[in-house]
Amino acid sequence: MSLLLPRKGAEIAEDASREDAAFAEERDAEQMEKALEDIGELPEDWQDFVLGRIESQKVAARRRSDEDRKTLDEVFDKSTLLVLYKFINNGYLETLDYPVSTGKEANVFHATTPQGDSVAVKIFRTNTATFRSFMTYIAGDPRFGHVKPNRRDIVYVWAQKEYKNLQRYFEAGVRVPNPIAWRENVLIMEFIGDEGTPAPRVKDAPFDDPAKAYEALVDQYRLGSERGGLVHGDFSEFNILNQGNAPVVIDVAQAVLSHHPMAAELLARDAKNLAAYFRRQGVKVTADETLKRITPPRKEREPIGRDEEE
Ligand SMILES: Nc1ncnc2c1ncn2[C@@H]1O[C@H](COP(=O)(O)OP(=O)(O)OP(=O)(O)O)[C@@H](O)[C@H]1O
Ligand SMILES: [Mg+2]
Repeated sequence: MSLLLPRKGAEIAEDASREDAAFAEERDAEQMEKALEDIGELPEDWQDFVLGRIESQKVAARRRSDEDRKTLDEVFDKSTLLVLYKFINNGYLETLDYPVSTGKEANVFHATTPQGDSVAVKIFRTNTATFRSFMTYIAGDPRFGHVKPNRRDIVYVWAQKEYKNLQRYFEAGVRVPNPIAWRENVLIMEFIGDEGTPAPRVKDAPFDDPAKAYEALVDQYRLGSERGGLVHGDFSEFNILNQGNAPVVIDVAQAVLSHHPMAAELLARDAKNLAAYFRRQGVKVTADETLKRITPPRKEREPIGRDEEE
C-alpha cells in the first residue's frame, strides 16, 4: 500500500507506535480483565476447552514443529481464544478445522457449526506490523468514530470494517461471502467452496471464458459502487475466488465509502488492475473504459445503508 496517510490517520498510527512500545503489555492485561468481567463465570479449564476444538492446534502440538507452533501461538493469543470461546458458547462454532490461508495480517480457517455447516473464520493477528496502513482506510470513514490509538483497537476496527463492508456488498447484491458474525479480531463468514474445499483464487484458476468473466466482474463492481456506495481498493486476481467460473469477491476490509478522500484514486487503481489482468487473458479492454463502466453516476454516489455514525 503505497498511498500517503491522511494527516489524521498518520497521527493516530504514530501515537499507536509510541503507545505500543510503552504500554502494550499493560493494556493487553487490562483489556483481558475487562473481557473476562463481561463474560461472567468462566470455567477454570476454558483455555483447554477451546484449544480442544482447534484441530490444527492439536496437530501442531503433536508434531512439535516449532514453526507450526509459533504461527499458531501468534494467532491464538489469550484474548483470541476468549473470542472463540464466546463463539462456541453462543452456538456459532463447533470446531476450527484447518487453515485455508496464512496471510500478512490474517489467518483464514475452515470451521464447522454445531449444525455441521462449513464456515470461514478470518482471524486478524493483533501483532501485525501492517496495522499502521489500516488507518489510511479508517480515518475519514463516518462509520467509525474515535479509534483508540493502540494496535489492538485498530485491528478490531479493521475486522469490523471488513464485516460492515461485507454486509453492504451483500445487501447491494454483490457476490461476496455472506457475513455471519464479528467480534473483536475474529470474523465468521460463509465458506466459499465445495464440500470443505475452498474455491481457488482467480490468480491460480483463471476463468474458462475470460470475456464473460470480465463482464460479470464489471457488473459486480458497479453494483457495489452504485448500490453499495463502496470502492474495493484492492481489486485483483488475488482477491477474487473462482467458484465454478463465477467470481466471488473477498478481502474487503480496505474498501472505502465512495465519498472517502481516497475513493477516486482507489477506483482508478482497481480499474487499472482489472483491465490489466483481463488483457493478459486476451480480452481487449482498457483501464479507461473499465473506469468509466465501474464509476457510479454522480447523483447516486451517496451510499445506501443506515450504519453511518454508529
Ligand atoms: N469466505 C472464504 N471462503 C473460502 N476461502 C476464503 C474465504 N475468505 C478467504 N479465503 C481464503 O483465504 C485467503 C486469504 O483471505 P483474504 O484475502 O481475505 O485475507 P488477507 O488478509 O488479504 O490475506 P493475504 O495477505 O494472503 O491476502 C484467500 O485468498 C482465500 O483463499
Ligand atoms: Mg487477500
